[in-house]
Amino acid sequence: MVHQYKLNGYNIVLDTCSGSVHAVDEVAYDVIALYKEKSKEEIVRELLAKYADRPDVTAEDLEQCLADVAELEAQGKLWAPDQYENLAFDFKNRNTVIKALCLHVAHTCNLNCSYCFAAQGRYQGERALMSFEVGKRAMDFLIENSGTRRNLEVDFFGGEPLMNWQMVKDVVAYAREQEKLHNKNFRFTLTTNGVLLAEQLPALRSAGLDGVNLSLDTLDPQQFAAITRREGLLPQVLKGLEAAAGTPGLTVKVNCVPTQFNEDQVVPLARLAQEREISVRFIELMPIGLGRDRHGLSQEQVMERLTGAFGTSMPCANPKGAGPGTYVTFSGFAGRVGFISALSHQFCHQCNRVRLTADGHLKTCLQYQDGVDLKPYLEGGVALTALEDALEQAMYHKPVGHHFSTQTQAGDEKHNMNQIGG
Ligand SMILES: C[S@@+](CC[C@H](N)C(=O)[O-])C[C@H]1O[C@@H](n2cnc3c(N)ncnc32)[C@H](O)[C@@H]1O
Ligand code: SF4
Repeated sequence: MVHQYKLNGYNIVLDTCSGSVHAVDEVAYDVIALYKEKSKEEIVRELLAKYADRPDVTAEDLEQCLADVAELEAQGKLWAPDQYENLAFDFKNRNTVIKALCLHVAHTCNLNCSYCFAAQGRYQGERALMSFEVGKRAMDFLIENSGTRRNLEVDFFGGEPLMNWQMVKDVVAYAREQEKLHNKNFRFTLTTNGVLLAEQLPALRSAGLDGVNLSLDTLDPQQFAAITRREGLLPQVLKGLEAAAGTPGLTVKVNCVPTQFNEDQVVPLARLAQEREISVRFIELMPIGLGRDRHGLSQEQVMERLTGAFGTSMPCANPKGAGPGTYVTFSGFAGRVGFISALSHQFCHQCNRVRLTADGHLKTCLQYQDGVDLKPYLEGGVALTALEDALEQAMYHKPVGHHFSTQTQAGDEKHNMNQIGG
């Protein structure tokens, strides 16, 4: 398997099965990205067009580069065969445990964010809500496969999970009963746009919800309407935020995706963590679905604005359920500011996440369509070992990393974020 990424100005090509690492120039990097997808003639044509303003990139150079790549492949330094695949399927003899699940409980939404959800006039794909039965089964599955691990995490995603609030509440209540019987300790987090939060939070909290991630890209009502394509809902969302921030013991994180449309909001949003003991996190826009047409701000660009307003940042401990985020604080802040920077600070090497969509597809990386359709295994009548085998196959083939910083490849995710659970 070949993994390509850019780091500190280097174009790196990692051949995972042979362990070879190649630092290559831009053109060779592109040649390798296209090598298995297109014919040599197509690669030469495409790259001549791409580098039309570079007289040093000629058809002869590209042919030479293709020959060098072929030579590396012949030497077993690129696309080397996987020697370990068969050995790895000895999983059942090892104590592999599952500790967390992200459940895509609603493939529908009451907002229509411009970078997430298509604006073609109809919802892309069929609307779907995960049933209580599937959610309950997922909890049983997690308990059964968690081995001796006591602390388990469940994240409710969507679409908008509060469009399926009754199911979320029932699943949390069910798992709270089960944890006593099995000596487990669940941690439940909900990622929501906040529209229904104020009205549903008391019931969810009494069922046993531990954390809320509230997505909020702006505090400006006009900008909010433009980004979410819904009028007049910001006050409701802010009411949800205040309800969450005022709930003792609930971990609250505000998530903002900074782009060219809300860059003036970085400082006002961070200020929410000045008075409240919450985290405000800036998430780098990923080029998925409609996100491809936007320009996201990098962690460095956000930090520049923050230090300009609040002074030098100070490191701080991660809040509960921090995942891949890194956190800082500023003088006089009660809370924290966090960054989830999948592009500028790629964290694929430590990613242990897979996600199950509302229609039963297990995705092993946000960037790729790949994964396995678990529906036939979840609908009953199929032996549990068959489900385990399907999971093992999917996990073994989890991609080494994303390639968001490079051109798209065959097999990249075509859906929008609301359909795959961001
Ligand atoms: C897909 S939403 C689902 C949950 C819920 N509806 C919400 O908005 O929080 C989860 C998160 O993904 C983020 N998101 C959507 N499209 C994105 C993209 N292309 N890149 C990065 N984050 C994205 C949203 O801003 C939101 O914070
Ligand atoms: S980001 Fe969340 S709220 Fe916005 S359209 Fe996507 S799923 Fe809905």
